[in-house]
Amino acid sequence: MMQRKQALLVGIGALTVLLMLKWEHTITLENLMSSKQPSAEPELSKDTITPIPGSRHLMVSAFKDHRLGGAIRVISIICRQELQPLYCVLCANANFKADASAKANANVDAKADGALGQCTSLRAKVHLHRDGFGFGIGFGFPFVTSDVLCMSPMLQQATHVSITANLYTRLTFLSIQNQEVKELFRYNFTVCISNLFGEYNNALQFAQTMEVYKLIGVQRVVIYNTSCGSDVEKILKYYSKEGMLEIVPWPIDKFLTPSTGWSYDLHHGDIHYYGQLSTLNECMYRYMYQSKYLLLNDIDEIIMPYKHANLEKLMGTLQQQHPNAGVFKIENHIFPKTQFDDSGRFRLPRWRSVPGVNILEHVYREPDRKHMFNPTKLLINPRSVLQTSVHFTLKQFGLVFNVPFDVCRIIHVRVPLQGQLSKDQLFVDKKLWEFEELLIPSIDCALNESGVL
Ligand SMILES: *[C@@H]1O[C@H](CO)[C@@H](O)[C@H](O)[C@H]1NC(C)=O
Ligand SMILES: *[C@@H]1O[C@H](CO)[C@@H](O)[C@H](O)[C@H]1NC(C)=O
Ligand SMILES: *[C@@H]1O[C@H](CO)[C@@H](O)[C@H](O)[C@H]1NC(C)=O
Repeated sequence: MMQRKQALLVGIGALTVLLMLKWEHTITLENLMSSKQPSAEPELSKDTITPIPGSRHLMVSAFKDHRLGGAIRVISIICRQELQPLYCVLCANANFKADASAKANANVDAKADGALGQCTSLRAKVHLHRDGFGFGIGFGFPFVTSDVLCMSPMLQQATHVSITANLYTRLTFLSIQNQEVKELFRYNFTVCISNLFGEYNNALQFAQTMEVYKLIGVQRVVIYNTSCGSDVEKILKYYSKEGMLEIVPWPIDKFLTPSTGWSYDLHHGDIHYYGQLSTLNECMYRYMYQSKYLLLNDIDEIIMPYKHANLEKLMGTLQQQHPNAGVFKIENHIFPKTQFDDSGRFRLPRWRSVPGVNILEHVYREPDRKHMFNPTKLLINPRSVLQTSVHFTLKQFGLVFNVPFDVCRIIHVRVPLQGQLSKDQLFVDKKLWEFEELLIPSIDCALNESGVL
C-alpha cells in the first residue's frame, strides 16, 4: 500500500517536472491576454517585502478594500523620483507550488503546480501618502509609503496580485487578504507597534508594558521586527509562543538604507524611521477584520484609561458619546526615566539583572509646555480609516475625536523632554501602581519563563 502511494507520488513529481520544463518561460503580456493560461511558473512571495520588477520600488502586502468597491490595495514603498507606469496583474484561482516557507497567512491552495488560473493586467493607480507635517511628502525621504491601487470590474474573483513595471518578466505574486467583510472580530483591542530596530534591548520595560496591556484589555500585539537585542529577543519569543504577540519580519535594511530619524535633512537615508509609516498602514489592513479597535503606539508607550477600569469600558463610553467617530487621538505625556520614586517600593532586587527601564519607578510626569504642539497617538476603528500616519490619520471616513487628557492619556517613560525641571516642578502620577497586585506576579512570571531572569 505504502509503496504504491510512493510510486504514485514519484509519478506525479515526474509529470510536474515535465510540465514545468515545457512551460518554463516567463509570463508575457500575450500569455496574460490569451484566454487559456499556460502553467508558467509564477512565484508566491515568501517575504514581507518584495521588489517590484523593473523598478526600485517595493511591495508589501495586498488587501481587498470593500469600501472602494473591492479595489485591490497593495501597500508599497515607492521611490518618488522614479515614477514610471506600474501594472497590476490579477489572477483568480491561481495555484502555487506547496511551499512550507510561504507566508503563514497566505491563502494558498497547494493542489496543482504553478497554475496561474485566469489573469488580467491593467494600469495601476499610485497614491503617495501625502504625509510629512510640511517637511515634504514622506518627510522629505526619497522612498514613500504608497497605495498601489488596482481597480477593474474584473477584480471580484481575484485571489492573487503582482505589481510590475515590466510585464515581460518573471512575476512574484501576493495573495489578496481581507477577501470577506467580517462583523465579528477575534480581538477587541490590538496594539500595532511599528519597527523594532538596532540593538534595542529594553527588555524590562517591554515585558512590564505587555503585562499592563493585558490588564487593561489588550488581547493582541503586533511588532515589526528588523532587529533587536538578545534579551528583547527572548521576551519576543516568549510572548509569541504564549500567543499574545505576532512578530512580522521587517527586513527593510536588506533593500534600503533606513533612516534612524524622522527628518531627511537631519538623519538622511532612503526612508523615514525604518519604514514606520508602511508598517502602521500594513498593520491597520492586516487587522481590519481581526480587531474591533487598534492602538497605534510605540513600544515604550501605554494608552491608559484614567477614568475607566479598562479599554472596553473606556471605548464603550466614548463610542456611545461619539457614535460617528472612528479615530480617537490620545495625548502623549512624558515620564522622565531620570526621575525615580523616592520610596523605592518597586525597586525589586530580582529585576536588577534585567536590562531596561523599570516603569514602576518613574512616577513623575512632565507638565504641558505652553505654545508647544502636544503630540498624540491613535486609537482607531481600522474600518473607518484609509491611510494613517503616526500622530493623525491622513484619510478617514468617520469623525476624529480628541480624547480629553483626564479620560485617557499615554504613559511614556523615556528620556526627558524638559530635563531642566526638578521633581517639584513635575506631577506625581502613580496610575500604574493601581495594578500592583496582579501586575507584579505576572511580570515575574514573564521574566522567569522567557529566561531573562
Ligand atoms: C470583545 O467585547 C465583547 C463585548 O463588547 C465581548 O463579548 C467579547 O468577549 C470580547 N472579546 C474578547 C476577545 O475579549
Ligand atoms: C528579529 O529579526 C532579527 C533579524 O532578522 C532576527 O535575527 C531575530 O531572530 C528576530 N527576532 C524574532 C523574535 O523574530
Ligand atoms: C521561576 O521559575 C522557577 C522554576 O522554573 C520557579 O522555581 C520559581 O518559583 C519561579 N519564580 C517566579 C518568581 O515565578
